[in-house]
Amino acid sequence: MTAELLRESFQIQGRNFDKAGEISSEIKVILKDLGIDAACLRRVVIVAFEAEMNVVMYADRGTIALILTDHDISLEVRDDGPGIPDIDLAMKEGYSTASDEMREMGFGFGMGLPNMKKNSDEFCLESEVGKGTSVFARIRLDSHD
Ligand SMILES: Nc1ncnc2c1ncn2[C@@H]1O[C@H](COP(=O)(O)OP(=O)(O)OP(=O)(O)O)[C@@H](O)[C@H]1O
Ligand SMILES: [Mg+2]
Repeated sequence: MTAELLRESFQIQGRNFDKAGEISSEIKVILKDLGIDAACLRRVVIVAFEAEMNVVMYADRGTIALILTDHDISLEVRDDGPGIPDIDLAMKEGYSTASDEMREMGFGFGMGLPNMKKNSDEFCLESEVGKGTSVFARIRLDSHD
């Protein structure tokens, strides 16, 4: 039996670079206080940060749900936004539609989605053009770097 120990939702504001990264920092503090293992914590924070940044960069608004069970940590990220027309292309390392302004801020290497997948034990990306995108990632509590 898998017991759900914690579920918490966070709102992300699209295009608000001033607040970008705040939610993944908050998730880090919550999980650290719960004593989550460092390797697992690191992976969750990478996935949460990249997901949060993608909503900030490309979408209007979104939510991140953090779910902790006795086996794993899941992140469910949904946004209202333009969606992704070609998911295979978006998943390729180096592919990015980031603006020059975003690149100047140090984003837009096209590494967010590939890194999210790499740091997840289960990863799923779904999108509907004109509606939005959702990301589901699961990281096991006993995962290693
Ligand atoms: N939530 C989203 N809504 C719409 N498009 C998205 C979303 N997430 C990713 N994309 C598209 O997929 C591309 C690749 O995303 P990825 O996170 O891998 O790279 P990036 O955001 O461009 O750069 P980096 O993450 O390295 O700063 C983006 O450039 C964008 O075109
Ligand atoms: Mg990104």
